[in-house]
Amino acid sequence: MGMLIINNYNFCAMLALKPGAIEVGGVALDNHLLLAAGILGTTGASLARVLSSGAGGVVTKSIGPAPFPGHPGPCVAVLEDGLLNAMGLPNPSADFAGELDGLAGRPVVVSVFGGSPEEFAEVAAWFADRAAGFELNLSCPHAEGYGAAIGTDPALVEACTRAVASLGLPTWVKLTPNVTDITGCGRAAEKGGASAIVAINTVKAMRISTGLRRPVLGNRFGGLSGPAIFPVAVRCVYELYEACRIPIVGCGGIASADNVLEMMMAGASAVEIGSAVIRGVGVFEAIAADLYADDGVDAATIVGCAHA
Ligand SMILES: Cc1cc2nc3c(=O)[nH]c(=O)nc-3n(C[C@H](O)[C@H](O)[C@H](O)COP(=O)(O)O)c2cc1C
Repeated sequence: MGMLIINNYNFCAMLALKPGAIEVGGVALDNHLLLAAGILGTTGASLARVLSSGAGGVVTKSIGPAPFPGHPGPCVAVLEDGLLNAMGLPNPSADFAGELDGLAGRPVVVSVFGGSPEEFAEVAAWFADRAAGFELNLSCPHAEGYGAAIGTDPALVEACTRAVASLGLPTWVKLTPNVTDITGCGRAAEKGGASAIVAINTVKAMRISTGLRRPVLGNRFGGLSGPAIFPVAVRCVYELYEACRIPIVGCGGIASADNVLEMMMAGASAVEIGSAVIRGVGVFEAIAADLYADDGVDAATIVGCAHA
């Protein structure tokens, strides 16, 4: 019996995309590459810096109903192929609005979370005059009562989406991969009036220090991100593309132009990049330099093309 092992499946010369502004899920973007929530998105100055470093749009740190300092440390561990974090959604709550004062008209998506549909709508309303759109964090795997605690229940996903979408701004819904069937939550978001689905947030995980005989993170459990979760993210986007009609924003482990193209072939119309930014904000320009060419193809010709 033979076993076929494929370790170089990028058989042909790399594609390039036509550069230029796009629109995804009601939000006008300068290109297909967005900053993911929670990484460098905590101040107006850092968001502006990422935008001027080649990102086509930015998503803010998730903002919730009350200020919160986050989980006790250690909050982040750097692993061989990714990051393990349990930040615990630290955020300044309503005070964050002032950070967005200098970003009017820019492609800034405000990430919000809450413990109920009413809280989601209340938090989103604080930013309604200064957001290009909202991203609902229904997917943080390590914040009790928030995030994935809500995002694993399709009825709550639909209700939270409807509550925020009623504000009349583009509403993206970010899903957790920590469910048996991600398409149930994707369909619920669509039914609730989402303008796009973002997939995925981190994968629930943990590491233990054999030296200390204790979990590495202060919160014990955390969320895995970076290249280790890229195949999980591709699978989720692929499944969502077959189940939903609204655009999908791919997220999880993207670190190269080829990763962006693969996500698009699975069904993503744009992508978010988080962990790769620890290499520096230059990652957006570096990926864009490989991804775009004046004689490149229209992205629409490759989005979802892996679905025969
Ligand atoms: C340190 C850290 C903080 C994060 N904070 C948030 C957050 O506030 N809200 C959110 O929706 N996702 C948050 N995420 C998840 C990322 O936005 C992203 O979904 C995930 O890391 C997968 O993408 P990546 O592999 O490119 O990092 C965080 C991730 C990391 C590593």
